[in-house]
Amino acid sequence: MTAIRPLVAGNWKMNGLGASLGELEALRERLAQKPVPEADAMVCPPATLLTRAAQVLAGSGIALGAQDCHPLASGAHTGDISAEMLADAGATAVIVGHSERRIDHGETDVLVHAKALAAYRAGLTAIICIGETEAEHRDGSTLDVLNRQLQGSVPRQARAADTVIAYEPVWAIGSGLTPTLADVAEVHGFIRGVLGQVLDGGAAGAMRILYGGSVKPANAGELLFVPNVNGALVGGASLNAADFYAMLEVYRGRGRSG
Ligand code: PGA
Repeated sequence: MTAIRPLVAGNWKMNGLGASLGELEALRERLAQKPVPEADAMVCPPATLLTRAAQVLAGSGIALGAQDCHPLASGAHTGDISAEMLADAGATAVIVGHSERRIDHGETDVLVHAKALAAYRAGLTAIICIGETEAEHRDGSTLDVLNRQLQGSVPRQARAADTVIAYEPVWAIGSGLTPTLADVAEVHGFIRGVLGQVLDGGAAGAMRILYGGSVKPANAGELLFVPNVNGALVGGASLNAADFYAMLEVYRGRGRSG
């Protein structure tokens, strides 16, 4: 099994004011005192905090990500933010195709694909999200949905160095519900297989596939060691520095994930 360095990424969503930077300072402090060299950490605050967060995180080894980008570099698109602007603000990664964007803003696989290309153009890592809804989960179409989303959203030229896949069952996000470990293993193995078809030149084996949806300190120790789970995309539990650190800490002494 390929050794893949795990990533724990925190998605703050539409949460966080200037005062929340104290959580980043606390996280930085904890990691400085007791590093977790086995895993990478990333925080994705709202765009309004990127510049200040970049200052807090400078030199910490904690990466800074954004939550969305427009496909174009600039232009008449009121309220939108380009990948170039995010890079300019200090981000090195951007989440694209989060289910909340797909649902709230009607984002399609075609648009998510274009946003991933925009991330590459700006030198950012694209964190491409996929996941089935509760109805799709119930009617047994999870793998079909994921196959369609992967085929449509992930550019053929995606590489492990510039792309992370996040599998987030919509019904598990913010609900406290999680799939069984066996289901997570099946789905992540399936995703690895589809990536093998989608990507040019054998890039699939080294690409990180994160699990997301109600990950918290109490379940991270199990979920993050399921085969083909190479880290987590964490919403609610990433807002608190102690909880976020606790999820990183599960990797201490346990090395790389397969
Ligand atoms: P949650 O969100 O951890 O609050 O369930 C995960 C996500 O949507 O990225």
